[in-house]
Amino acid sequence: MTESERDPAPQVEAARKAFESDFERFARFAGDSAGHPRLSLKEAEDELRSLAELRTRHSGKKSALASCKKVIGRVAPEERASFGQLVQQTESRIVQALEEVEAFLKDCIETARTESESLDVTIPGRRPRAGHLHPITLMRQRIEDIFVSLGYAVEDDREIETDFYNFDALNISEGHPARDPQDTFYTTDGFALRSQTSTVQIHAMQRRGAPVRMIAPGRVFRRDTPDPTHNPMFYQVEGLCVDRGITMAHLKGTLAEFVHRLFGPETKTRFRPSYFPFTEPSAEVDYSCFNCGGDGCRICKWCGWIELGGSGMVHPNVLRAANVDPEQFTGFAFGLGIDRTCARIYELDDIRLLFENDVRFLEQFR
Ligand code: FA5
Repeated sequence: MTESERDPAPQVEAARKAFESDFERFARFAGDSAGHPRLSLKEAEDELRSLAELRTRHSGKKSALASCKKVIGRVAPEERASFGQLVQQTESRIVQALEEVEAFLKDCIETARTESESLDVTIPGRRPRAGHLHPITLMRQRIEDIFVSLGYAVEDDREIETDFYNFDALNISEGHPARDPQDTFYTTDGFALRSQTSTVQIHAMQRRGAPVRMIAPGRVFRRDTPDPTHNPMFYQVEGLCVDRGITMAHLKGTLAEFVHRLFGPETKTRFRPSYFPFTEPSAEVDYSCFNCGGDGCRICKWCGWIELGGSGMVHPNVLRAANVDPEQFTGFAFGLGIDRTCARIYELDDIRLLFENDVRFLEQFR
């Protein structure tokens, strides 16, 4: 029999002391939890991990206490009962202390998790920044509304065209000088980015036949050098009305009605003789300045009139190119620049502002 088997009590005492010394730092979490410190989730999780190590060290299979338990059977019979009791009491004290702390730490963890996951309904919400329409879109919608109320359909057509639709079908044959101011950009396959929305006249007549009444707003492209009134990409709206007995009077009446609805009933129109290969006769259309009524001001550059676009009676060759019989049908057409009209209405000095995507500028149109 070894010395420790002959007198094993000091061994139990040593195990108890070793536990108490290690447990000292957890003592503040034992007993009544009312005065215990508040722990964050991470602190409580770290402490719980250290506690588990302590438990293994002092009450696990390889602990000093476990060795004491193994000795019980070999202790002298007259001392066995009291020694067994001592081991048991020490063990239950250790287990109880560990359980108290464990319960407290688990409670801390649960509370911290609940708090972090809970929703504070009193915090003010974050309002998403709503977008808004671009000024050109606003302008286009105003124009569309007016023509739709006059019985026009809205056509949306392709921006990449063949030379046939961009020029030939519009009575602009190869080598025609009118191709120059409308010089555009070409793809490597020889397709053209349309230089005017007049291309849609042909598509619409081919698709719908005659009679037809449509407008076609959209993007067009030209090899124009950018300046305050020019951009290589800009917007036009085309108008086409083909039926039996359509005359220049219908064209004038329609555009007069359009400017009345857009700028007010006092707005006047003016038609200046002009030339477009696809209309005959042709005219530039101006309207009296919406700001000064024609007296002259900064907006109309002191001339009283503002240019709206080009117009005219559809050339018989154009009707023929779209398989419409010019003996039966006549029509008028017009093409208005949306960007310049938009710039005048909003008093912009430079149409390029509309394409720079500067949010500080665009936010003014909310
Ligand atoms: C035409 O484009 C003709 N297709 C209009 C037409 C249609 C006439 C139907 C007859 C019948 P013009 O090249 O003038 O016409 O252009 C029309 C409008 O587009 C101009 O009044 C102007 O407002 C606008 N515009 C022309 N070039 C530019 C540019 N580079 N940047 C911004 N706007 C432009």
